[in-house]
Amino acid sequence: MVGNAGVMSADTRRASADGYEMTFAVNYLAHAQLIGDLAGTIAEPGRIVLLGSNTYRQNFWRRLLSVPEARWRDPLEIARPAGESEKPGMEASGVAYSNAKLAILYYAHELQRHVRPGIGVTVFEPGWMPGSDLGRFAPQAARSVMRGIARIPGVSTPEKSGPLLASVALDARWAHLRDGAFVLKDHVIEAKPVAHDRDRERRLWTATGELLSRA
Ligand SMILES: NC(=O)c1ccc[n+]([C@@H]2O[C@H](COP(=O)([O-])OP(=O)(O)OC[C@H]3O[C@@H](n4cnc5c(N)ncnc54)[C@H](OP(=O)(O)O)[C@@H]3O)[C@@H](O)[C@H]2O)c1
Repeated sequence: MVGNAGVMSADTRRASADGYEMTFAVNYLAHAQLIGDLAGTIAEPGRIVLLGSNTYRQNFWRRLLSVPEARWRDPLEIARPAGESEKPGMEASGVAYSNAKLAILYYAHELQRHVRPGIGVTVFEPGWMPGSDLGRFAPQAARSVMRGIARIPGVSTPEKSGPLLASVALDARWAHLRDGAFVLKDHVIEAKPVAHDRDRERRLWTATGELLSRA
């Protein structure tokens, strides 16, 4: 099972039909709902692969491109859309995206503790794919720049990343992966310490139950 859907809402005041901040709802809560409903039906051995992103943490390039890292708060707060008086902007939308992707890592770690022993949970990071539709709500000018960057050799594209994702989901080479192992394109990397936090992982699990039962 692959949890791929994702979006970067340009306006953190936007809410899903059930009233949650759109980026958190699509990138995290919807996957938790679907997996919660279906995990019991996955045959063993089986795999659950979630789409993660390295934006959960800062580095030189992301700082240069003004891509903010996650700023973790209680999940009930993260799920709340921004108030009408709050100004939307790239910074808020980037933080929402990075928070949702940090949530995916916490969730993957916790999920492994709840599924049957033959199910492995993995997080796949496809690399930066500026030509995808992720920024569908971004201004046209920004989207044109991204499409230009996507043509630079070496930059990830959906065409390159798709087969890598399929490989993590299906190939024998990756059958041993568990515990939310973080695969960057075609190799496993260690997630940073901020992405391993038992208290946050437990809290996210219970808060998710609460949010989904209200929806
Ligand atoms: N692009 C990057 O640089 C990058 C980097 C790291 C991780 N990722 C992750 O990779 C995954 C795929 O993103 P992408 O870059 O390939 O973007 P994309 O081309 O926009 O694909 C996003 C997918 O999510 C679905 N989706 C969006 N909103 C939805 C909603 N409200 N309900 C149901 N489905 C919805 C879209 O379906 P429709 O087209 O039918 O709406 C589409 O299949 C995401 O989880 C993203 O966060 C992307």
